[in-house]
Amino acid sequence: MSTKPSPEITRLFEPRTIAVIGASHDPNKIGYKIVQNIVSNGYAGRVFPVNPKGGEILGLPVYPSVRDIPDEIDVAMIVVPAKAVLQTVQECAAHGVKFVPIISSGFSEVGNLEEERRIVSCAREHGMRVLGPNIFGLYSVTPSLNASFGPREIPRGNVAIVTQSGALGVAMIGKAAAEKMGLSAIISVGNKADIDEADLLEYLVQHSETRVILMYIEGVKNGARLVATLKRAAKEKPIIVIKAGRSKRGAIAAASHTGSLAGAAEVFDAIMKQCGVLRAESIQEAFNWCKALATSVLPNGTETVIITNGGGIGVMATDACEKYSVELYDDLQILEKIFSPVTPEFGSTKNPIDLTGQATAEHYHRALEAARQSEHIHSVLALYCETALFDVAAFEPMIEQGFWAFHRQSKPVLFSALGGEKIEQLTETLRRRGVPIFADVTEAVSCLGALYEHYRYRCKPDEKADLIQIDARALPQIFEGARHEGRSFLLAHEAQQLLGIAGIPVPQSRIARTLAEAARFAEEIGYPVVMKVVSRDILHKSDVGGVALDLDNTQEVIDAYGAILQNCRRHKPDALIDGIEVSQQVPPGMQIIIGARRDPSFGPIIMVGLGGIYVEVMKDVSFRALPISRQEALNMLKELKSYPLLLGVRGEEKRDIDTVIDVLLRVGALLQQCGNIADIEINPLVVYEHGRGGIAVDARVLLAQGGQQL
Ligand code: COA
Repeated sequence: MSTKPSPEITRLFEPRTIAVIGASHDPNKIGYKIVQNIVSNGYAGRVFPVNPKGGEILGLPVYPSVRDIPDEIDVAMIVVPAKAVLQTVQECAAHGVKFVPIISSGFSEVGNLEEERRIVSCAREHGMRVLGPNIFGLYSVTPSLNASFGPREIPRGNVAIVTQSGALGVAMIGKAAAEKMGLSAIISVGNKADIDEADLLEYLVQHSETRVILMYIEGVKNGARLVATLKRAAKEKPIIVIKAGRSKRGAIAAASHTGSLAGAAEVFDAIMKQCGVLRAESIQEAFNWCKALATSVLPNGTETVIITNGGGIGVMATDACEKYSVELYDDLQILEKIFSPVTPEFGSTKNPIDLTGQATAEHYHRALEAARQSEHIHSVLALYCETALFDVAAFEPMIEQGFWAFHRQSKPVLFSALGGEKIEQLTETLRRRGVPIFADVTEAVSCLGALYEHYRYRCKPDEKADLIQIDARALPQIFEGARHEGRSFLLAHEAQQLLGIAGIPVPQSRIARTLAEAARFAEEIGYPVVMKVVSRDILHKSDVGGVALDLDNTQEVIDAYGAILQNCRRHKPDALIDGIEVSQQVPPGMQIIIGARRDPSFGPIIMVGLGGIYVEVMKDVSFRALPISRQEALNMLKELKSYPLLLGVRGEEKRDIDTVIDVLLRVGALLQQCGNIADIEINPLVVYEHGRGGIAVDARVLLAQGGQQL
């Protein structure tokens, strides 16, 4: 099957011509609504309704089939029942249509995967792209195109929304209007049979009218590509994600809703953070961030001051600053110099700057001006609690003019005003004029936190992944042994061999087949030694008495050899015993876990955390999508609650962090360079003091089903 090159994604958002196949004469049907929305929004291109009945819809001539349209078609909206979609897609492909957004439901979301695959493969063959199926359509501000069956009026603005849920998308249009938040695009991806978020980001990132991108995601299909696109896109514009399917029940609901698997919450969060994406907890939080970030400038630094007329809201804002990683400027001398000329009696020039309950609009204006003009201050939170002195007529222009003055100076300012009806009036008017103002101080601080998260990601230098090349020549032998025996995992000594090849330090060890060999190997390795049974039939060696520790001399080795064999024969009489492994007993150190696996959503991912037997209880781990740089590996360690243990607490020496980073990169390289490995986990990596390295004491390696051979 030959595949034609795909059209530029711009044509989906900015089509010159659009057909609606299944355009209905009945005003109550979706096929009519879409034509009506396109026409009434003033779309500048040509519109071609298609329906076998012919006639006219809203004054437009109706074509019996797409074949009869005399023009080239950029976008053909498909609004016919599921059973007629494939044939319609075939006709579109034959006519050279570039994009087919399929509104119709009845595909993978209800288990009809086969038909969906047929549709996509027909489209690909002809170089046509499919959006959906199971979508509500798209809105795009540049050509003023509302090709959806959502609301007719969509407020114009700078926020683009990409949503996997159509119903939520329609609701978000309504909410955007209610919140005075204008949209530059809204596009529903539905089942993501072909076009996904990564495709759409390519357009939205370079689209000048889009300043913020909001994505509602249930499941990720091609995660590796999404990661690469997001990493680039978030350097250009703030990208906000709401992820559904975090809880186990939610994930099941999302999976049945969209036909795709929801990624595990921890992995998703960690990878979004790695990509510089802002993760919102709720639609309201996401909308607040969109409004603030679409209107805000980027700061030139991280020092923030809070200006308030109430001690209480000042303290609440201070707490929220800690939660949302907003740094409060704390040079008391400079603060006093800046603010004492503008602070009323009994006020405070410590951050929060307290203008007291007697503060008027004039006090606020002067304090804001002082902050704006100071080079020490990079952003401001201006909070107001309604008092008897509140005067809408004075506050409204002061806030609006103040906002734009800050804007011109590249200093973000966010307002919060709490009170009754008059304050609500003020808020409503200011929002309509594009000023970010919130009732709740925490909401305002959370927006500034999101802005700073985006700022920090943009300031981060672009990192190149540190790739370690594994010498793969000896690897096939290890995997071959396992395949030959029909095993989907490596035995402990094979796993150690694998790590050794990857340059990861492992304890010295040999496999003894006789008692004499065991004694000799122990002498050669040096005491103390550890002995473990080697058997493909015994996975949990300790459970059957197959492990002996702290062996200090030949006699203890002889005794342990006999005891291990006896224990294993008693507990697992049928087990085939390949030998007894004699290993160097490594001195104790800090225990770290390092794992890497192929995530169903994101492809190769890596994890590091506090290791040992309590790993499941502590759950102190961090994740990233591979590949990573040395710096990113260090960032992973810094995220751990137990990171201070690596730095050394209570007089302990610092641990060998370089070794942990090196092992992380090597485990990542193993997974990426060996298609045979599905999952690899070292637990523990025993880490010693700085400069004394570490040793991977135990490793578990699972093999990919039918994984590619090296
Ligand atoms: N080519 C062109 N027109 C066709 C056609 C074809 N092959 N087959 C049917 N039509 C016409 C019909 O004649 C009808 O027009 P008419 O009303 O003027 O007679 C129109 O297309 C619609 O077909 P109809 O059978 O009446 O279906 P419908 O309007 O009840 O439903 C869908 C069609 C696509 C809306 C429906 O099948 C569906 O999937 N609904 C769910 C949509 C949804 O929720 N999507 C997800 C949103 S998040």
